Amino acid sequence: MKKHNFSAGPSILPQEVFEKAAQAVLEFNNSGLSLLEISHRSKDFVAVMEEARALALELLGLTSKGYQALFLSGGASLEFLRVPYNLMTQHGKAAYLDTGTWAAGAIKEARQFGDTVVVASSKPDNYTYIPKDYAIPADADYFHCTSNNTIFGTQMHSFPEIGIPVVCDMSSDIFSRQLDFSKFDIIYAGAQKNMGPAGTTLIVIREEILGKTGRQIPSILDYKQHIDKESMYNTPSVFAVYTSYLTLQWLKNNGGIAAMEKKNDAKAKLLYNEIDRNPLFKGTAKPEDRSKMNVTFLLKDETHTEQFDKIWKAKGISGLNGHRSVGGYRASIYNAMPIKSVQVLVDAMQELEKTVLQ
Ligand SMILES: Cc1ncc(COP(=O)(O)O)c(C=O)c1O
Repeated sequence: MKKHNFSAGPSILPQEVFEKAAQAVLEFNNSGLSLLEISHRSKDFVAVMEEARALALELLGLTSKGYQALFLSGGASLEFLRVPYNLMTQHGKAAYLDTGTWAAGAIKEARQFGDTVVVASSKPDNYTYIPKDYAIPADADYFHCTSNNTIFGTQMHSFPEIGIPVVCDMSSDIFSRQLDFSKFDIIYAGAQKNMGPAGTTLIVIREEILGKTGRQIPSILDYKQHIDKESMYNTPSVFAVYTSYLTLQWLKNNGGIAAMEKKNDAKAKLLYNEIDRNPLFKGTAKPEDRSKMNVTFLLKDETHTEQFDKIWKAKGISGLNGHRSVGGYRASIYNAMPIKSVQVLVDAMQELEKTVLQ
């Protein structure tokens, strides 16, 4: 039986994407060959890469606005390094907002390049909220933020309006909600949460911000090289790119980001309402900063843990345990998660309530 998969990543993808990807591994485009054994420079795969790049820009509303989309390898973690390499000037500085483990990871890499100003941090409160009042130095080369905090279950619901380039790690909420994406100069997202399997990262870049650092950039780290080579500077992760392409097609055929946002709002509302209503549970993130992708919550009384775990496991739920730094539970309700699976989780929470309080 297919499980209700609440894993934070790698995570659930649409069933039709799994089926089409599996078919392409067996035989790609009626070619008598598997997707995995053809050249990435073959006509069929070049078309996949071109269409995937164009579709990503189309879905984000960034076509013909001076942006380029790339599908590169190395995970979002490599972008922690690639961003300062490409944007931080020799004696310049960068501004970072510290909202969680991944934001802190990006800060750590930037510090190797130069003055890295942390404009605000919610670390002392175990990242349970998004800092709001902070000043961003106007002379910074760029501002970096993380739109969704996968581990601690917080999400930025607004972004500062500033006159310097904005870079955003959208790994865990890309394509989940409508934003004016043209306010960002670089967006990057590891595929394995809302887009595809692990192995590729979508990077969307406003091309004109590149080439201003005066730095020698090694080719593999140079966004310009990847743009010039149409995302084929080196062999791309063909399976991950193709599967991400299938998800982007699914997204488009199902109403695009606007339709996803509606469904995601309904799922998040259903689950947070239950967390707030059910006397046995409590949320971990500050309500105004709650994530609509990763819902983190605890049992008020940990002695019910064994009983609750038994109930949700019996209902076919998987991947619900919280990250070790938060504990409790984390329900990742990405685009492909149907609302009926969220209802199964709510039913499990209510079943525990009945058992304990009867
Ligand atoms: C917001 C965010 N950024 C970065 C990463 C790191 O991604 P990767 O493992 O692809 O390097 C993750 C992984 O969970 C994440 O959630």
